[in-house]
Amino acid sequence: MKTAPVALLPGVCVLLLSAPTVSAVSLSVSPNLQQVFSGSSPVSLSCDDGWTVRRTRGNQTDECGAAADFTRLDESLCVQDFKTTFTAIYWCETSSGQKSDDVTISVSEKGVILEIPALPVTKGSNLTLRCRLSTGETVAAYFFYSGRLLGPRNKEHTISNVQQSNEGFYWCATDLSGSSAHSYLRVRANRLPVSVEMTQCIEENYEAVVDLTAECALFEDSEYSE
Ligand SMILES: *[C@@H]1O[C@H](CO)[C@@H](O)[C@H](O)[C@H]1NC(C)=O
Ligand SMILES: *[C@@H]1O[C@H](CO)[C@@H](O)[C@H](O)[C@H]1NC(C)=O
Repeated sequence: MKTAPVALLPGVCVLLLSAPTVSAVSLSVSPNLQQVFSGSSPVSLSCDDGWTVRRTRGNQTDECGAAADFTRLDESLCVQDFKTTFTAIYWCETSSGQKSDDVTISVSEKGVILEIPALPVTKGSNLTLRCRLSTGETVAAYFFYSGRLLGPRNKEHTISNVQQSNEGFYWCATDLSGSSAHSYLRVRANRLPVSVEMTQCIEENYEAVVDLTAECALFEDSEYSE
């Protein structure tokens, strides 16, 4: 008797967490970088169990495994290589069409890349931006945020105690190797990851879990009253 509600519940929790006020991220990206050079090492992307990695570039959307450069290792782990140059958006999706937040990975043919995380940064953390050559070396650069110069030329730029107001486009510019692409930094409130909330939601038999309390309790009531 209990099987049906439990099986349905993860879907419900995910729907709730996808509400605009909550930043639900079940996608992992390693290395966690938003800009890479063309020809650089592959990146691995993984989802929680039951979710599949997808990407879209231009007007084409592919499921993991559907293209030679987008290889499926197991049900929820995918490897993207960068032999070709393109920028794509990645996310996790369930068979019923629920989606995680997405991340953008830009493949650059410029002289430098900005080292900036692909995944949202947690509010209150410290973030260090660097400007890198294709050799891997960091170079002194000017760092910009939304068109504004962030300080004198430096090997890195640190944002201490990241806040929502730090969201926006960042890039770096060097004297000899030009500018990097622009990448958007996202900031999210310090919350439990979705998977933890979902697990608790189930394990604690629908008792108080962060914001999910009311919804899970309601769901439980409606399921068991039938
Ligand atoms: C997708 O892009 C290709 C190439 O740019 C174009 O020829 C095609 O019409 C586009 N398809 C849609 C559905 O927009
Ligand atoms: C951020 O950096 C400041 C100053 O260096 C340090 O005191 C603080 O503990 C750091 N915060 C985190 C979350 O690492």
